[in-house]
Amino acid sequence: MDQQEGTAAITGSGGDLDITARDLSEWHQALGASDREVEIQATFIVAVAGATADEATERAQFTKKFFSDNLEFQFDIPIGGQEKLWWAMWPGHPSERIVKEFAELTTGTQFASLAPLTSTDLGDGSGLLFADNLTTGVPLPCLLDLWGQITGDVSGSIGIAGEPGGGKSVAMKIILGAVHDRGGRFIVIDRTDAKEYGIFAESIDPSQATIVDLVDPKWSLDPLRIFGAKAGASQMLTLCSALLGVKARSAAGVMLADVLNERKAENAGLTNAHALLARLTELGQKDETARELAGLMNLYADTEYGAVLFDNDLPPLNLASRGIVFLTHGVALPTKEEIDNAAMFDQLGLDKLFGHAMYALLTRIAREICFRDPNELAVFAADELAHVTASPQGLAEINRFLRDGRKHGAPVLVASQDARDFGDEVTRSLIKNRILTRQTDPLAAESNLEWFQKGFSKIPANVQTVTEGLSPLGADNKVPVERRGEALFRDARGRMGKIRTRVSRRPDRAAATLSTPKTVKPSAEQVTS
Ligand SMILES: Nc1ncnc2c1ncn2[C@@H]1O[C@H](COP(=O)(O)OP(=O)(O)O)[C@@H](O)[C@H]1O
Ligand SMILES: [Mg+2]
Repeated sequence: MDQQEGTAAITGSGGDLDITARDLSEWHQALGASDREVEIQATFIVAVAGATADEATERAQFTKKFFSDNLEFQFDIPIGGQEKLWWAMWPGHPSERIVKEFAELTTGTQFASLAPLTSTDLGDGSGLLFADNLTTGVPLPCLLDLWGQITGDVSGSIGIAGEPGGGKSVAMKIILGAVHDRGGRFIVIDRTDAKEYGIFAESIDPSQATIVDLVDPKWSLDPLRIFGAKAGASQMLTLCSALLGVKARSAAGVMLADVLNERKAENAGLTNAHALLARLTELGQKDETARELAGLMNLYADTEYGAVLFDNDLPPLNLASRGIVFLTHGVALPTKEEIDNAAMFDQLGLDKLFGHAMYALLTRIAREICFRDPNELAVFAADELAHVTASPQGLAEINRFLRDGRKHGAPVLVASQDARDFGDEVTRSLIKNRILTRQTDPLAAESNLEWFQKGFSKIPANVQTVTEGLSPLGADNKVPVERRGEALFRDARGRMGKIRTRVSRRPDRAAATLSTPKTVKPSAEQVTS
């Protein structure tokens, strides 16, 4: 009579016995569906964890109830049998009697249908470890194989978009550090006042790092000295055209191009900017255009900020260096309006024109170095990219990196508050590894999401994830330590998930990685967190 308990047993309908009979008949049908069908006895064991025994028990009760309410599956919590069941979950452990006791009878087909059809795989199968994949409750390592992507015909470039404080720079430094550790090279343009990438590069290996502070240089960026008269001539031409505000087809432009013709520059022994200035002065004795150019150039040679180009006492940038950082803090730059408006541009002060031209030179030098050896991974990184792409030359160089970098083993790593700074729609679509950090402004969040994955900005839940769900600020206006570095990641294959960037456990590397504009020297709390 036990079996009929709680049912309208007398009428014989809806009782447990009926259900059992139905199950049995279904079971026979399933087993007989094919000659090859087999019987399977499977025991489902679920481990539930908690910080305390009470918490674990509570969660176990919740799980049990959830399965019975929603999935009509009864879990037992056998007192005294739990230790044996725990061990039974480990591969290779012999199954004990209790395991067989809880076996569920099923068929091969039905058992196979239990295989999960979703995947939370994210990132590459090998490569540098830069984050944990948080998509499920179990954090899994998330790897980035830049070299593998490049040799597999994907660009290998990485874009990071999000508001200040979201974790962009930390992510960049994690990646750059790992690139260095694996024998790669990196070049960075750093505009922060705290010189955060300078500190970072020095900490990696002072003997391998070269830091060029544009306003207080220890190295010369004169392309004629770095690359020699022949190879440096075209770069010097790019620089001088921008610096002297010379249009390519004007008389001055033509003259400059002639003087800096590769062969002529070499023959004339133009091995540094001073030699070029002397040559123009010499030509200027007979030629008005040359005299004007020499006059303009002289203006820069005399300024303090001109030292990075004209001071021959400085050693030329060391190309063998494995980590080069250009510090551009304090370098004046024209506003976007001044660049776009021809009349305003013509009125630019020398300092802004110098800054503008230097960005063109820096990106050009970066390309020369990164594109040199196609068999070596050389990453060009630019944080706060808007400064670079504001100028047409800077944008063109980023474009070129994104389009051709793969062939030369040279991916770019860029970060900005707004993904639209990564160039026009076509250009930014070339970045395959996309990372979104927190962006609390809904409009900017939408624009970043649209770049992340087309159509995503239209889904309110996604916007909410980016505005509220990534490294949210606590009541004290600080991000709780355990939630720093959260981001959405779309990997080179287009798979998406949530990650948390993973700072190196090496204390020195962690300290260098966490050096931020506000805290040049990170606090002990940051280093150990
Ligand atoms: N993975 C991480 N682990 C620990 N702290 C992190 C992590 N990512 C970022 N942070 C912290 O979050 C703050 C903001 O990071 P930062 O990279 O400077 O942001 P952004 O460059 O976007 O302005 C810093 O205090 C940094 O130390
Ligand atoms: Mg930053």
